[in-house]
Order: sequence, then C-alpha cells, then structure tokens
Amino acid sequence: MADATVIGAQWGDEGKGKIVDWLSARADVVVRFQGGHNAGHTLVIDGAVYKLSLLPSGVVRKGCKGVIGSGVVVDPFALIAEMDRIAEQGVEVTPENLSIAENATLILPVHQELDALREGAATGVKIGTTKRGIGPAYEDKAGRRGLRVIDLAQPETIRAKIDNLLTHHNALRRGFGADDYDAGALFDALMEVAPKITPFARPVWRDLDEARKAGKRILFEGAQGVLLDVDHGTYPFVTSSNTVAGQAATGSGSGPRAVGYVLGIVKAYTTRVGEGPFPTELQDEIGQRLGERGHEFGTVTGRQRRCGWFDAALVRQTLKISGVDGIALTKLDVLDGFDELKVCVAYDINGERYDYLPAGMDNQAAAKPIYETMSGWSGTTERARSWADLPAEAVKYVRRIEELIETQVALVSTSPERDDVILMKDPFEG
Ligand code: GDP
Ligand code: IMO
Ligand code: MG
Repeated sequence: MADATVIGAQWGDEGKGKIVDWLSARADVVVRFQGGHNAGHTLVIDGAVYKLSLLPSGVVRKGCKGVIGSGVVVDPFALIAEMDRIAEQGVEVTPENLSIAENATLILPVHQELDALREGAATGVKIGTTKRGIGPAYEDKAGRRGLRVIDLAQPETIRAKIDNLLTHHNALRRGFGADDYDAGALFDALMEVAPKITPFARPVWRDLDEARKAGKRILFEGAQGVLLDVDHGTYPFVTSSNTVAGQAATGSGSGPRAVGYVLGIVKAYTTRVGEGPFPTELQDEIGQRLGERGHEFGTVTGRQRRCGWFDAALVRQTLKISGVDGIALTKLDVLDGFDELKVCVAYDINGERYDYLPAGMDNQAAAKPIYETMSGWSGTTERARSWADLPAEAVKYVRRIEELIETQVALVSTSPERDDVILMKDPFEG
C-alpha cells in the first residue's frame, strides 16, 4: 500500500494541513476530494505561515502536484483570490502543478448569499456555517441544477443552465425578502473568471489512473472532520459533504482500494467551531486556557473555537466509521503544564451509560461525559521529535488514548512547525 488518505477525526481543525504537508515530502500528488473553501489548513514552514482553503496542501512543495477532485465544491472567485494570495508568498500555481476536475460543482455568489440569508433568518436551525455557500452548492449538485467547472468553457450552453438555476434560487430568495438575482450579471461574472479557471480543468480521474500506473504516490487530503460528515456527524450541525475516508475514492474518481492507509488526524483535546453538541466542552478557565495555548481561532472565519477535554468515546466511533488504520495525535504540546487531564470514556444519557454517541439531537444534547482522570506533566513536549524526548506522563497519556480508541498512534505532532513530528509508523509503508 503506497498511497494514503488523511482525514479529520473530530470536528475539523485537527491539524490536517500540517500533517499533509509533512507527508507530502514523499508524495507525488495531493488530492482534495470534498468540501470547499470552508476548510482552513495552516502550514508553518520555517516560521512562514501558509493558509490554504481550496488548494491542496501539496502545492507548497516543489515537484508535488495538486488535484481538486469532483467531490469538491469550487468557488472560482475564491480560488483565484487564494492563488493570488499564495503567489505573494512565492508559491506559483499553474496548470503544471494544479488540476481541477472538470465535473466539479461550482459555488456561485447566489449560494453564498443563500447561506448567509438562512444563517441570518430568525427561524430555522442556526448551524453556524462558514457562510461560504457550501451547503447551497451541494444542494444544487444533488438537485441536478448545479453548474460545473466544464460549463465555464461552454458559453453557448451556460446561459440556459443559469436560467434554470436562478428559477429555483429566485423563488427561494423571494421567501427571504431578497431581490431576484440577475442572470445577465451572473453570466458576465462567470465569463470574466472563466479564462483563469478553464486551463486547470482536467479529467482528473484519468490523470490519477495514469499517475497510479506510473507508480506515483498519491496522498488524499480530507477537509473538515468525521463529526461534521453529513451522514455520520452530529446532524444537523454538520457540513454538507461526506468527510469520511471512503469519500476520497468517490470524490476523485478512484476505486475504493485507492485510498490506501487511512490516517485519522486527532487533536490531543477537542475543539469545535459553530453550533451543535459537544459533550466535553469546558466553559471555564480550563477551556479558556486550552484555547489560548492552542491559538484556537478559526482560520477561515476568525471565530473563537469552543474547547474541551479529549473525547475517546467519540474518537473511537469516528475511527471505526471511517476505517482508520492509525492516527496522528496533534497539539500534544498544548497540554504541557496542566496538573491533571481528563479523558471522556463514555456518556451518561438520562441515567443510562453509552460507550458511543447515539444519533438524535436530544440524546446528543443530553450526553454527559464520564471521565477518567490522568496526571499531567511538568516537563515540556514542545518541539519533541522522538519518544525519548517526552515526559513519562505524556507517554502514558498517549498510550492510554491508543488503548481507548483501539487504534495505533502513527505520528505525534508537537508544534505547528513542519518537522516537529514524532514518527512511530510510516503511513506510506501500510
Ligand atoms: P486543519 O484544518 O485540520 O488543517 O487545522 P487548522 O490549520 O485549521 O488548525 C490547526 C492549527 O494548529 C494550525 O494553526 C496549526 O498551525 C496548528 N498546529 C498543528 N499541529 C500543531 C501541534 O502539534 N502543536 C501546536 N501547538 N499547533 C499545531
Ligand atoms: P477544516 O478543513 C472546522 C463547520 C462550520 C459549521 C459547519 C457547517 O479547516 O477542518 P459549512 O460552512 O461547511 O456549511 O459549515 O461546519 N466547519 C468547520 N469547522 N473546520 C473546518 O474545516 C470546517 N468546515 C466547516 O463551522 O459548524
Ligand atoms: Mg482548519
């Protein structure tokens, strides 16, 4: 098994970007397969910070190709802005090092506006979305009225598609008291952006097949996390795509065996942005301390992330759902200096013990964590690159987590910097 898939195993922001960047030293191709610019993946390389949303984290490495698969929803305006931003940091993105699936769905300004209208409405469930138009774009994809990347190359047929799409959207917009969206304005905006996007459009399923035949190593980069998966997450407080590892195959046009070793990225504590249940959330000074030490502010929206203790019951569940082979445990250094650490091992829901989080908003909201308490450590784990550098209690904490989640720890990350990683098991060696 030469290939690997990286996914988030909690509510996102686990440190996927850092780990994908680290692994990409030995990958030829890095593929995004779901989500869109709701993602914010941070890479820190010799002190320089790169923030990527739509671009696969591999583009920062010379010689590594980035692919945006058909499972991604692509906002062409946001993509160009991101390319411009990263060009200022010296990273050139060209059709030589980036391909975009011609059958990927576009996020349009109407999607973003609808997302914001819904989130701002007085009625309905507020999700706390990133307001990037992700949900509305996936709805139109499933509703078979979406526009796709390839449509940008076909001005003669795109007008009818725009009309069809806007018939639907304008009816919705009227319900929110918003003006109708003008078809001509949308056509003009898309035609302006088209020449910048179409050179990247490719049958990426075919390119990936050829890469595989040529013995190239492919790394799939997930966005969000399993608890935000539209099937398996804390519905309805989720994103609108499947974030589990199986989506790497569907969202890129590869077979189910292509995903290879599945590496789940797991933060040594828990965070969440937006609304929804969070059993181990700490609304006290400990939660605040985790947030401050971990710099827990959203990369995309700047919102403060909610923080809490590690939830082993929940992570065990997400690892099984996603078929994870091993995990990268990140941000262990953030736990330096705590006297004691708590780990959730099960829940009490209305007096009954559960070793998993059942579906259903009421059950999830009522889940009270059952904790195991461990001692903290006085030494530091920051920037450690070998097991031997870790205080004994930190080793105990990692080993106990490994037991509780029934999955091996393949990597431990001890700072934001690219090379501050302890390697226990090489994901590329299966
Ligand atoms: P992603 O969305 O999963 O890629 O994660 P984000 O980039 O949104 O958030 C993770 C944050 O933690 C980023 O600011 C990273 O630079 C940082 N980070 C990643 N790994 C570590 C680590 O091991 N220790 C510390 N202190 N920070 C880390
Ligand atoms: P990365 O890839 C954390 C959350 C939003 C909201 C919910 C739905 O950086 O880990 P959406 O805009 O997708 O419709 O919002 O999902 N969310 C994320 N939270 N990390 C992310 O991505 C997220 N992408 C979406 O905050 O609760
Ligand atoms: Mg993030």
